[in-house]
Amino acid sequence: MKKILVFAGSNSKSSINKQLAIYAASHLNSVGIQLADLNDFPLPVYGVDDEQEEGIPSNAHLFYKLIEEVDGIILSLAEHNGSYTTVFKNLFDWISRINSKPWNNKPMLLMSTSSGSRGGQSVLDAAKSRFPYMGVKIVGTFSLPSFYDNFYDGKIIEEFLNNELLDEVKQFELAL
Ligand SMILES: Cc1cc2nc3c(=O)[nH]c(=O)nc-3n(C[C@H](O)[C@H](O)[C@H](O)COP(=O)(O)O)c2cc1C
Repeated sequence: MKKILVFAGSNSKSSINKQLAIYAASHLNSVGIQLADLNDFPLPVYGVDDEQEEGIPSNAHLFYKLIEEVDGIILSLAEHNGSYTTVFKNLFDWISRINSKPWNNKPMLLMSTSSGSRGGQSVLDAAKSRFPYMGVKIVGTFSLPSFYDNFYDGKIIEEFLNNELLDEVKQFELAL
């Protein structure tokens, strides 16, 4: 059975991006799901001196191992001030010290959502332009605007947005 990693670029316990990532994954058939929460991989703030003195922390290796073990990744990025959240960027920096292309050419469904009407489009654009240089095979993208208007009871309630997501999930499944 194919296995995928599902996570959000957020450390919020009630992360709306985690909810979206889980919803997207729920449409896959016969795929094993490894759900990760960045709170379970606490890491010091990346610094070159710390890396030289202390090495790469075990949680960075553990997260990197999760990537190695799966056939694909569903990631939904939270946006803070138009960019990656600190917790995600920090993880990204650490794992890039293990492998400069840490995502191992795994197919990825890359998403974002926010409470605002742009749905995290800025962070999604940043990732879309950078990830291909970091070993990501982006096979689908989706941004959900105004999360609290469009997502209710674990589902996207606006039909055209839901159909858009289902098309992207299908592309992702075909790429696994
Ligand atoms: C420090 C901070 C900065 C934020 N900056 C943005 C932003 O640039 N664009 C946006 O749409 N929402 C922004 N938000 C709102 C987030 O989209 C919202 O908190 C959302 O719940 C984050 O996703 P998460 O729940 O998955 O962590 C910001 C929130 C915080 C706390």
